[in-house]
Amino acid sequence: MTTPQAWVNPLRDKTDKRLPRIAGPSGMVIFGVTGDLARKKLLPAIYDLANRGVLPAGFTLVGYGRRDWDKQQFCDYVHEAVVAGARTEFREHVWQHLIKGIEFVSGAFDDAGFDRLSQRLIDIDSERGTGGNWAYYLSVPPDYFSDICHQLERVGMADSRQDAWRRVIIEKPFGHDQESARKLNEIVNAVFPEESVFRIDHYLGKETVQNILALRFSNQLFEPLWNARYIDHVQITMAEDIGLGGRAGYYDGIGAARDVIQNHLLQLLALVAMEEPVSFEPHELQVEKIKVLRATTAQFPLSKTTARGQYTAGWQGSERVRGLREEDGFDPNSTTETYAACTLEINSRRWAGVPFYLRTGKRLGRRVTEIALVFKDAPHQPFGAGQTAVLGKNAVVIRIQPDEGVLMRFGSKVPGSTMEVRDVNMDFSYSEAFTEESPEAYERLILDALLDESSLFPTNDEVELSWAILDPILEYWAGAGEPDSYPSGSWGPESADRMLRRNGHTWRRP
Ligand code: BG6
Repeated sequence: MTTPQAWVNPLRDKTDKRLPRIAGPSGMVIFGVTGDLARKKLLPAIYDLANRGVLPAGFTLVGYGRRDWDKQQFCDYVHEAVVAGARTEFREHVWQHLIKGIEFVSGAFDDAGFDRLSQRLIDIDSERGTGGNWAYYLSVPPDYFSDICHQLERVGMADSRQDAWRRVIIEKPFGHDQESARKLNEIVNAVFPEESVFRIDHYLGKETVQNILALRFSNQLFEPLWNARYIDHVQITMAEDIGLGGRAGYYDGIGAARDVIQNHLLQLLALVAMEEPVSFEPHELQVEKIKVLRATTAQFPLSKTTARGQYTAGWQGSERVRGLREEDGFDPNSTTETYAACTLEINSRRWAGVPFYLRTGKRLGRRVTEIALVFKDAPHQPFGAGQTAVLGKNAVVIRIQPDEGVLMRFGSKVPGSTMEVRDVNMDFSYSEAFTEESPEAYERLILDALLDESSLFPTNDEVELSWAILDPILEYWAGAGEPDSYPSGSWGPESADRMLRRNGHTWRRP
């Protein structure tokens, strides 16, 4: 068999240290630079990129915000964020080089502020050789997108020209339903054409998520079995042990489904279920993801095929923790779900009749994200009942995090003089197989945006289609009273187990 020319292993392509990808002349403006995301993820990621030597020499980071900071104050703030959050070693000479290009512009989202900002960016272009190439990172609530985009347009800093590019990087939430997502996309696309918009879904920046494509399409082993003929059902789990203390402002009223199913979990579903793309060019990947999302719907009746819950007080390991309603800032009568599960079906020849179960929750037993493809039983078992008493179903489990890897479960003979078969696991672990450390998701995605590589960014169509899948469920829940409760440290509400039991299935206990 020959390898098609267009075939590129996405893992080796993007992480091969012998061929580092280095961004060309450019700078980045972060709006909302004093927020949690910037402090914990973006600023450390920028330092890590600098440390890996993949930012251009004159790279300039401009923080924009209301604070009355001078350069030194902003540098101190960035320094603190880097020391606390960077994954690579702190090296004084890298830092000294980076701070030459760190600036703060103080202002609101008004004319005066943006006049100042644009003048500064023009000056930086001539002082530091950023070449007019600017990425604007909107790490702010979507209510501000319109003002920022229009201000950038007004001051002439939004248009890409032949010799200079302007891109906008935006963070979720991309709306709260399909309608609001469409409006948001209209607002952003009115100023920035779709090819200049980079929507961050940080799950797509994770190495193991990209490995789904490598696993499926670089092997002969899996793909022939990857369909309704052999697969019984699929479970996509994103479990977290953390609670929501400190996040009330964002989370109360939003809930688990909008927070992570609409984006991370549906992107995982798309990658697991899509057809082979013609190549790994962004457009080819997007076409396949869109096709599968278009074919995906909630299974009905929603009273039986969905479940949601809210955590109450309990034990997280040896720590006594509060329930959501007692967390700081949450409404004591909050009905926001912290656990959400749903059954989806994909209306295609490949997947007809295979339920895709998605679940996510806070304050669950442990932190784990995985995709389990559970196989149908072998059509015939030539064993006596006593010989296979504990035999379960075969499974391929893609562990996204932690302990990144792939696990296969199958039956094997127990050593001894009788024919007894039992389930065993064959476990591939990233950390054992590779010495290279994978970059953090934000590092990967920021670098991709600077390089204009859009494969790992969902398009406006993907976002709107994901909402279309979720909207009926959200509407149903809105009229269905309070969520069930589950104690912190457990594996969610009983209704989620019921949801699977009706099909004779059980959740994997990761
Ligand atoms: C974010 C959600 O997108 O992902 C958070 O808003 C969640 O609620 C986080 O905790 C989880 O990310 P990760 O990379 O730790 O799995």
